[in-house]
Amino acid sequence: MNIEEAENRIHFLSQELNNHNYKYYVLSEPLISDYQFDILLKELQELENRFPQFLSDSSPTKRVGGDITENFKKVKHKYPMLSLSNTYSKQEIIDFETRIKKLADGDLEYVCELKYDGVAIGIKYINGILHNCVTRGDGDQGEEITANIKTIRSIPLQLRGSDFPREFEVRGEIFLPLAQFQKLNEERLADGEEPYMNPRNTASGSVKLQDSNAVAKRGLDFYLYGMYGANLPFQKHFENVIKAGEWGFKIPDRKMNMIKICHSIEEIMAFIDYWAEKRNALPFDTDGIVIKVNDYRQQEELGFTAKSPRWAVSYKFKTEQAITVLEKITYQVGRTGAITPVANLTPVLLAGTTVKRASLHNADQIEKLDVREGDVVFVEKGGEIIPKIVGVDFSQRKLNLSPNRYITNCPECGTELVRAEGEAQHYCPNQFGCPPQIKGRIEHFVSRKAMNIDGLGAETIDLLVEKKIIKNISDIYFIQKQEILSLERMAEKSTQNLLKGVVDSKTIPFERVLFAIGIRHVGETVAKKLAKKFKNIESLKKATLDELVNTDEIGEKIAQSIQAFFANEDNHLIIDRLAVAGLNFAVVENSEQPVSDKLKGFTFVVSGVFQIFSRDELKKAIEDNGGKPVSAVSAKTNYLIAGENMGPAKLEKAQSLGVKIITEKEFSEMIKIESV
Ligand code: IVH
Repeated sequence: MNIEEAENRIHFLSQELNNHNYKYYVLSEPLISDYQFDILLKELQELENRFPQFLSDSSPTKRVGGDITENFKKVKHKYPMLSLSNTYSKQEIIDFETRIKKLADGDLEYVCELKYDGVAIGIKYINGILHNCVTRGDGDQGEEITANIKTIRSIPLQLRGSDFPREFEVRGEIFLPLAQFQKLNEERLADGEEPYMNPRNTASGSVKLQDSNAVAKRGLDFYLYGMYGANLPFQKHFENVIKAGEWGFKIPDRKMNMIKICHSIEEIMAFIDYWAEKRNALPFDTDGIVIKVNDYRQQEELGFTAKSPRWAVSYKFKTEQAITVLEKITYQVGRTGAITPVANLTPVLLAGTTVKRASLHNADQIEKLDVREGDVVFVEKGGEIIPKIVGVDFSQRKLNLSPNRYITNCPECGTELVRAEGEAQHYCPNQFGCPPQIKGRIEHFVSRKAMNIDGLGAETIDLLVEKKIIKNISDIYFIQKQEILSLERMAEKSTQNLLKGVVDSKTIPFERVLFAIGIRHVGETVAKKLAKKFKNIESLKKATLDELVNTDEIGEKIAQSIQAFFANEDNHLIIDRLAVAGLNFAVVENSEQPVSDKLKGFTFVVSGVFQIFSRDELKKAIEDNGGKPVSAVSAKTNYLIAGENMGPAKLEKAQSLGVKIITEKEFSEMIKIESV
């Protein structure tokens, strides 16, 4: 390919990908499969690597992140970023409408929108290309976080059409969809991390991460709510928002009543009532409604107070609350020994479900709320998985209630609790003697992403620990068949299954063993980075704090936790026993190393009989290219490579889960080395 051809192809691919991106993330109407999209993106990435002179800042390859920003630059806003005046009272909305009717000239038209619960951003476009993205900051100047915002797929890097002003700014809200919030928290819990508090804080924390690659993984989204510039196409907010939709922005859906022109207070109230009822069904959090004057001339006429415009107001929904009695505070011990206080409540109905328990987070929270057993409390539900206590009705407090005394010893094993400086959580330090910690560590160790030992479920682990057959993860490799058979409900077949799972796990590579042994804060990604840098457990044991901190994605907190792990003699003993059992404690550096990472992040199921490859060859090819072969089809499977005579059940399952079904020919296309 010559230079001119490369330039043309890069241009063509960028346009194509931008187009598909818009169809998928803004309109939710994909034209091509994810696989076809990935193939185009890979081709573009490779061409950009070979011809970096044609790499543009608005290339679709920028979406995956990669740029690190050490310190965000301060940028002054051309148009100050103000806030809205808020109210919880409908009367004040009526007053607002009456007031501005008097102040403004002519008839008034209002635009009602949802108030998205996230973080504000201003995005400037020059000649249709995303120029920079700035946070609100103090309203006059904010921080430039362009690399991070570019990873959000519903924000166009390049506008569609041509009727946009040469220079203008859009404003809108970055938010974390609820499903994404749940998914992130499930992953955090699996890695032994504390879950995020709520979607809004997670969104505002995410946009300020220094590593845009990490931002890309958060799954943020965006809605546009305003535009600023000298040459906007229309004199009215609503018309401009609709126009912005044509340029490729994600705008509120008119058909879903997410944005509406209203002409009277009655219509405004109807909009408020509609969303007060329906907002729980939205896939993101909204905390109210914003009412704006549509006409810019009238907006100008109405002007601003010190902090907010007179032409807009927000009506905030009262978060649904329930009032009930806190009967007892109990304490849960997690896999890592973290203690979580739990409020046990008199059951009460809240937003459609009966609530019996609520989170109290940690000791500080209990102290801050001054909540006591026997108190009448207010309970709220946000995007969180379990509800939380937000306050106490002190007017109903009985005189004899004594302040809560946080436990000093572990409720499970009696060991004195510790609390590290700067951390909110108390911990039980008795890693090897505290039953939920022992069980939790073993459950983590055998889990699918770790050692993947089939046949060792939570109930069996409970029994094995209770009967003292296993006391730590290394004992798993020394269990005798007779010991398993002695357990209730363990017959010959399931015993064999378990033992086979144990033997099979010995081939699991070092990086996963490292994840499996359960060092606090060492999740899958961190384990991979550590394995790559230190190659074996001995060098990791010896690593200094500096060496650890100088590893990709590893900060002081993780580094300290790794050192604390290896400072403990019991852990050395366990690792030695696991090594004796034959687990991988070093990276295998030979032909087993991937030849490419084309399939990185994808899982495959291979099923049926094939013409070109054997099944094992296919599996090896998947691994050699960075992919992961798995045996059963699940929602997490990306591709099913289907041969002849494959089981109809597998096929049906794959189809119902939307797993892409490909032939061995298509697979070989995926890993083909492009001829240059
Ligand atoms: S209009 C002059 N519209 O609410 C202010 N803001 O206090 C113009 N917000 O931080 C803002 N949804 O990020 C507007 N549909 C919406 C909004 C919205 C959420 C946020 C905004 C700002 C805060 C205003």
